[in-house]
Amino acid sequence: MPKGIEDFIKMKLSGEKIAMITAYDYVQAGIAAEAGVDIVLIGDSLATTVQGKENTISVTLEEMIYHAKMVKRALKEVFTACDMPFMSYQVSAEQALTNAGAILKESGVNAVKIEGGKTVAGTVKRLTDNGIPVIGHIGLMPQFINVLGGYKVQGKIEPQIEKLVEDAKALEDAGAFMIVLEAMPEEAALSVQNNISIPTIGIGAGRHTDGQVLVFYDAVGMLPQKPPKFVKKFADSRSALINALKTYGEEVKSGAFPSEENIYR
Ligand code: KIV
Repeated sequence: MPKGIEDFIKMKLSGEKIAMITAYDYVQAGIAAEAGVDIVLIGDSLATTVQGKENTISVTLEEMIYHAKMVKRALKEVFTACDMPFMSYQVSAEQALTNAGAILKESGVNAVKIEGGKTVAGTVKRLTDNGIPVIGHIGLMPQFINVLGGYKVQGKIEPQIEKLVEDAKALEDAGAFMIVLEAMPEEAALSVQNNISIPTIGIGAGRHTDGQVLVFYDAVGMLPQKPPKFVKKFADSRSALINALKTYGEEVKSGAFPSEENIYR
């Protein structure tokens, strides 16, 4: 049985941290499953990591469902959530219900994640009332990039911290079962944590959240650019892959590949 919402609450209560990672395709999802992560997220960060776009604004519902299907195929036994892309849930709670329903029905994922606090609470309620589990997402919200004026750390001053706490409470009251806290000082994350009873998952939010999430390609060191401060590279996959392909090219040219063991008789 995959872990479910009850298990995440139990983990919070027992102090066992929750490990969430993003995945965008079948192979990554299989790796995440074998590694034993607790939750896999099809993040709309696929816009930047997979599609090479500047931000997440242009990802479509169809693209998210396409990736969610691939991921879920490898994750029969792992709780899986999918981001609702920009403008697939903001217009109205009805629009959100239709689109979240499509994500769950077509891909088989277990939950959706949406960005926003108080302003999306009504939508969160509409979804959870209709059997769609919701993960909230506050702090730095990449879909708000044009309002925030960049990828800036949030919750640095008291009024911002108060707002984060109010937003988190509103999401919990509306029925969200978990909240992602992105890019904030750990004191701000702790204030949120101390004011709600559902699990918090941090990304650049310090050490006190109930769990952590990282973008797959950041965690395994696959991207060419220097990652943000909060990222830890748990492997240097990019260098390993480049070296593997260099050796491949050299062996093709020298004739060392294919060798006796690679040919049919
Ligand atoms: O899109 C994403 O990948 C995310 C997180 C990593 C939280 O929302």
